[in-house]
Amino acid sequence: MLLVAFVALSLCLYAASPVKAAFPDCVNGPLASNPVCDTRKDPITRAKALIARFNTTELVANTVNSSPGVPRLGLPPYEWWNEALHGLAANHGVKFTSSGNFSFATSFPQTILLGATFDDPLVKSVATTISTEARAFNNAGRAGLDFWTPNINPFRDPRWGRGQETPGEDPFHVSQYVLNLIDGLQGGIDPQPYFKVMADCKHLAGYDLESSGGVSRHSFNAIITTQELSEYYLPSFQTCVRDAKVASVMCSYNSLNGPPACADPYLLQTILRDYWGFGEDRWVVSDCDAVSDVFATHHFTSSIEGAAAAALKAGTDVNCGSTYSANLIAARNEDLITNTDISNALVRQYAGLVRAGYFDPANVQPYRQLGWSDVSTSAAQTLAYTVAAEGMVLLKNSGNTLPLKAGLKIALIGPLVNATVAMQGNYFGNPPFLISPLAGAVAAGYSVTSVLGATTSGTDSSGFAAAVAAAKAADAIVYVGGLDNTVEAEGLDRTSITWPGVQLNLIQSLATVGKPLVVVQFGGGQVDNTVLKSNAGVNSIIWAGYPGQSGGTALFDIIRGKVAPAGRLPITQYPSTYTSHVVMSDMNLRPNTATGNPGRTYKWYGGETVYPFGAGLHYTTFALAFQTTPAATYSIATLVANAGSAPFLDLGVFDVFNLNVHNTGTVASDFVSLLFVTSTAGPAPHPLKELISYSRVHAVAAGATATTQLKVTLGSISRTDANGSAWLFPGSYTLSLDVPQQLTHAFTLTGTATQLTNFPLPPS
Ligand SMILES: *[C@@H]1O[C@H](CO)[C@@H](O)[C@H](O)[C@H]1NC(C)=O
Ligand SMILES: *[C@@H]1O[C@H](CO)[C@@H](O)[C@H](O)[C@H]1NC(C)=O
Ligand SMILES: *[C@@H]1O[C@H](CO)[C@@H](O)[C@H](O)[C@H]1NC(C)=O
Ligand SMILES: *[C@@H]1O[C@H](CO)[C@@H](O)[C@H](O)[C@H]1NC(C)=O
Repeated sequence: MLLVAFVALSLCLYAASPVKAAFPDCVNGPLASNPVCDTRKDPITRAKALIARFNTTELVANTVNSSPGVPRLGLPPYEWWNEALHGLAANHGVKFTSSGNFSFATSFPQTILLGATFDDPLVKSVATTISTEARAFNNAGRAGLDFWTPNINPFRDPRWGRGQETPGEDPFHVSQYVLNLIDGLQGGIDPQPYFKVMADCKHLAGYDLESSGGVSRHSFNAIITTQELSEYYLPSFQTCVRDAKVASVMCSYNSLNGPPACADPYLLQTILRDYWGFGEDRWVVSDCDAVSDVFATHHFTSSIEGAAAAALKAGTDVNCGSTYSANLIAARNEDLITNTDISNALVRQYAGLVRAGYFDPANVQPYRQLGWSDVSTSAAQTLAYTVAAEGMVLLKNSGNTLPLKAGLKIALIGPLVNATVAMQGNYFGNPPFLISPLAGAVAAGYSVTSVLGATTSGTDSSGFAAAVAAAKAADAIVYVGGLDNTVEAEGLDRTSITWPGVQLNLIQSLATVGKPLVVVQFGGGQVDNTVLKSNAGVNSIIWAGYPGQSGGTALFDIIRGKVAPAGRLPITQYPSTYTSHVVMSDMNLRPNTATGNPGRTYKWYGGETVYPFGAGLHYTTFALAFQTTPAATYSIATLVANAGSAPFLDLGVFDVFNLNVHNTGTVASDFVSLLFVTSTAGPAPHPLKELISYSRVHAVAAGATATTQLKVTLGSISRTDANGSAWLFPGSYTLSLDVPQQLTHAFTLTGTATQLTNFPLPPS
């Protein structure tokens, strides 16, 4: 409904806007005779042949995101900046029409809720759908072929305004997400001959702070130990580049141990290209105006052309912004760079476009057939709903208050009861529809009275009386509030992790009414639920993330019991005092009594949590059992010898555990198996536990037993030394399943400590 109004308003303004040619014409146009059109040659050769014909002006002009092309050669303009974090996102290269075909695309829940599903095949399905829709838009001249997604910086600090864009705080989990996501977006792992679309892993590296405590992302120098860089901040990027073979990477705004990321040859050459094997047909893009920041805010160079030269030479190929186009001529005139430096960068980016089939006609290019009928199909709409339903996490359900009986009279209270666009988080496009919690409640058959009661972050409590009156008149109360983009967003970190505004007071007033009270908590970050957890007047708590276009339907399908909740928290819910002990800009994960840092993430924070990483209740009960008793000892030498056939030792298989998941209750339900390891082997201090495998089984009937396999790699049971290299250490280990733990198994690694990886040392 919201959309209809918008469409009617803008129809007359934009209906006639022409669509530009989507592709260079390799059949009839001036480019036809250019060797870039020769499909028998490899992408780098083809790109070199194209770039060889650019003069200096044309070389420099095409180093930026809004690339003008070369009209003289028949090369059309290309916009490199396209976004598709959880569905095609509006702006830059992505152009929705105002009505009719291409006026919307599937809008999936924000990534943090997808992370909470712990369902890797679902991640791949979502990405496959997004890339299909992206291709359809590209074929209509309404989107590019590269998308600056995903955001895979692990969600290290609960205050981070962009944590919502990530799948969570655990580096193994983020790595599995990115592996499946890139597979779906790019049309396979390093598919030949064509990328479906080019994905872009961002932000390399150590970027997870917007602006906090007087520190801005544009000038922040993240101090990270080599050990924690390698074991926490980089694994998702290693998986993305080395294993998923992503087409591009974005360097971040911040500096890392000195140099700004976009001007850091250690990061962009030594680690990215030399260690992870990022090829010459792959490109690095700067975050927007990050090249300018090298001079303007980091003061790393003494001139703006010096910043352009430092970034280009370090390996930043595409400049989001205009620093390159405005300054590379001056940089060349000052002998800071050569034309070859510029053409190397252009070869990388155009080789990517060759791999995406940009230059190849429809008869050889398989994705050219996709069109509007492939966008927002009923299967895609079901998938968006499924992610929301699978991701939501039941945190509290005293006395089995949920599910709520059909037909009840519900008082729907809270600032987000009517949320529509707010359910999309950030980086979103035009959805086909947005089903609010209120619409979902009505469609579920409840008789509903809705009252806002308060705004998300405001201090006005004058709406409480009406809210309490509605609550008294109802059979049950559903509160819908939490976080929205007024309190967490790009550029906006929270300063506190308590419920914002007067929401907690409102919920506490509702808890005194004496009716069943369900609290629905929206947002990408967590809020401290301590008082709600202990308040007997608050019966149930559901964390719903940002659930996207079908958020209201999914939410009320859980509330009425049509869907059994099985999502798990992909982040730790800390008590609010946490943020007074450690500043965001302290990048250390390990606890430190000298600084007061209590440790970060479930791996290192040993204090009381409100709800731990992996928490999530069900409408039924499950019992877990290994199908066969796992081994009690493993020889390191044998493990490493057997791993010899893996492309990298850390990907070698440690073991595969077959698990029985027995539904011992009375309600059919999904179940997420989370497998952790604990050990005091390797360098101290030791993490409390580490996630090493997970899987989700679907719709296990009451009384039935599902089976699942939990594969564990050598990398997962390795520990990282101070130089960032992974080792297998002899000693005692304990596997544990589930949160709270319900099954353990002890084993020993025997033999001598053996190195699995050789992380490149930083320049001294
Ligand atoms: C490069 O070619 C363009 C036409 O595409 C022309 O305007 C420009 O002056 C040329 N630049 C140089 C340095 O030759
Ligand atoms: C819209 O897309 C449909 C499905 O591809 C197509 O049949 C129809 O002709 C398109 N309408 C317009 C106005 O292009
Ligand atoms: C929710 O939105 C509907 C439709 O716009 C409106 O009628 C209703 O008053 C809103 N509810 C609240 C509590 O604001
Ligand atoms: C780290 O590397 C340095 C320099 O090669 C070496 O001296 C040191 O022993 C290494 N430390 C560990 C823990 O391997």
